[in-house]
Amino acid sequence: MQNSQTIWFNRRKNLVETIDQRHLPFRNLIVEIRTLDEARDAISEMIVRGAPLIGVTAAYGMYLAGLNFSGGDFMEEMKRAGDWLKSSRPTAVNLAFAVDEALAVVSGQYSVPENIQLLFRYAESLRQREIDFSRNIGLHGLELIRAISEKKNRQPVQVLTHCNAGRLACVELGTATAPIYLAHEAGIPVHVWVDETRPRNQGARLTAWELGEAGIPHTVIPDNAGGHLMQHRMVDLVIVGSDRTTLNGDVANKIGTYLKALAAADNGVPFYAALPSTTIDWALNDGVAEIPIEQRDGREVSVMEGMWNNEVCEFRIIPEKSPVANYGFDVTPARLLTGLITERGICRATREGILNLFPEKR
Ligand code: MRU
Repeated sequence: MQNSQTIWFNRRKNLVETIDQRHLPFRNLIVEIRTLDEARDAISEMIVRGAPLIGVTAAYGMYLAGLNFSGGDFMEEMKRAGDWLKSSRPTAVNLAFAVDEALAVVSGQYSVPENIQLLFRYAESLRQREIDFSRNIGLHGLELIRAISEKKNRQPVQVLTHCNAGRLACVELGTATAPIYLAHEAGIPVHVWVDETRPRNQGARLTAWELGEAGIPHTVIPDNAGGHLMQHRMVDLVIVGSDRTTLNGDVANKIGTYLKALAAADNGVPFYAALPSTTIDWALNDGVAEIPIEQRDGREVSVMEGMWNNEVCEFRIIPEKSPVANYGFDVTPARLLTGLITERGICRATREGILNLFPEKR
């Protein structure tokens, strides 16, 4: 086990290991991924979730597809594997990005063992890239927190976050949480308001768990509390993650992010999305019109899971016959964002701002 990391390749067993996030915070279980199908299931069943971690899992999935190749046209098989992985979850662009990059490293010119080796190296390098990106996002975001802390005479900086854009959503440190972890490490007092994030409760279950493990002061709040806290000047800064960011700076993130951005704008609270460039969809310019929004099983809305008498159990919370709708994500328009915290620095959520940091994409 690689201490604070969420996914790693176990060389002794020749397989991928990851945390089964469906069971946190009640049980901390490690699962093994040996095949393409297991990698796809891990993504679709939300054993792993969060945009960067989905991308890294898909990269290992491509490697495992190569490793288990049993004949036929290797390149065709890889293409099929990539399409199969891509069909698992639609919103986080990291998935398609990782599959396309993996497909770009293999070639009909190489032998199958050589291609498998290239796929492995690619998966390992993407994993490392996400670790580096998280750290750099953390270093840039840290300066925002430091500046607020100095203005407040070192009273705790109050950060609100939505869903889990923490280390569990990445490989290490997270995106939205990376500045928080580094501020805590630097001795800057921080306190995090953790939106519970219905329906799957990634905030209450995952963000609260990982902040607790790190000893970071936090309070879980119902999703609807953020506006009230902002009106009463109890939030200094909002930092959320992103599943897909368009070139004009629109951000798709967990459902409910948009409402937090509206409340922040109404109350003059700075609102940032923290994201690695692997989350930018360079081809899109209008998030609301163009980003596919995942719709998930209604059971996530109608049934809750919790701990009762030391047992994890499920209970229905709505009338049996009431229909439900379960949109997984929403889009926060760029105009509501104060800025984007990326691995290369902080920029305005505009085409110019993004391209100034990533001139090679012009
Ligand atoms: O449905 P999930 O849990 O995969 O959604 C995760 C989020 O919305 C995160 O905020 C996002 O992926 C950013 S992760 C650094």
